[in-house]
Amino acid sequence: MVDTLSSKKIVILGTGGTIAGQSALRDDNINYLAAQVPIDVLTAHVPGLASHIEGYVLCTEQVAQVDSKDMNEQVWCRLAQRTAMALAQPDVHAVVITHGTDTIEETAFFLQSVLPADKPVVLTCAMRPSTASDPDGPQNLRDALTVAMDPNAVGVLVVCAGFVHAAAHVQKIHPHRLDAFSSGDAGPLGSVQESHVRWAVLPLPFTHPAWDVTGLSADQPWPQVEMVLNHAGATGAVVHALVQAGVKGLVAAGTGNGTLSHPLTEALQFAMASGVQVVRSTRCAFGPVMAETDAVIPVAQGLSPVKARVALQLSLLGLAAANATQPMD
Ligand code: SIN
Repeated sequence: MVDTLSSKKIVILGTGGTIAGQSALRDDNINYLAAQVPIDVLTAHVPGLASHIEGYVLCTEQVAQVDSKDMNEQVWCRLAQRTAMALAQPDVHAVVITHGTDTIEETAFFLQSVLPADKPVVLTCAMRPSTASDPDGPQNLRDALTVAMDPNAVGVLVVCAGFVHAAAHVQKIHPHRLDAFSSGDAGPLGSVQESHVRWAVLPLPFTHPAWDVTGLSADQPWPQVEMVLNHAGATGAVVHALVQAGVKGLVAAGTGNGTLSHPLTEALQFAMASGVQVVRSTRCAFGPVMAETDAVIPVAQGLSPVKARVALQLSLLGLAAANATQPMD
């Protein structure tokens, strides 16, 4: 019997995703609804859970139930607050978060940017709905708990398909593969093998000051930050329309080393002159943009476009984002 007074807690927060998805047909992993199954039901279906987490008590909470393509700042705010409150309790050892794969990298980066990082926060997900004949969610959740209990785990981590990724590096790179993530040039931090974590690189606690998320209202509007893409034939039309619409920040996903067509460059310089904050990243899957000596549009400190967008939002919100960005390699 578990002694709940002396045991450490792991809090599991559910936010939805395919891991909580349901399909009408067992082998249909395409036409299904994400974000249907409650977190306590998902947790109950992890095989051998009781013996796996011996000495720990699990507490579950449904923070949201969304397909992560619809993830938004209101849910982020609530999630950060619930995670911060759990981490602040002395008997809570770690927080595990279930999430959709589509925007897990943004949520992980956001949480890493705002939370204290002295305990593990482990996000996990699945590529097949929970009703599939061979779902990947239960094993991923079990692996996430393995990582959460590991004495070397710290900070915000993403666990999927047996790999442990750092929030700063992880990217979804495939729409169907069970192992849908990569950490690019940096590589994964480690892997989970037979209920043990094999670290290739030990995660480091971040040194940035945690943002007091309890003070942020979920109703507070966040600054509008949009993304524009350079491509063959790119014009500045989208940028001009966004400036007209009152956008506060723009992330340009450039070609190669963050290069932009002449018309797009001119439009972005016009945006900057109009008070819009602009940063440059790359549409390349891996590798940071390295600033040219005569760069006019600043580069996004090695962040992918979607993470650069989060960092710019936090900076425009006036949060401690300056220390929150981590280079990609
Ligand atoms: C989602 O991101 O919520 C749906 C897709 C997935 O989890 O794989």
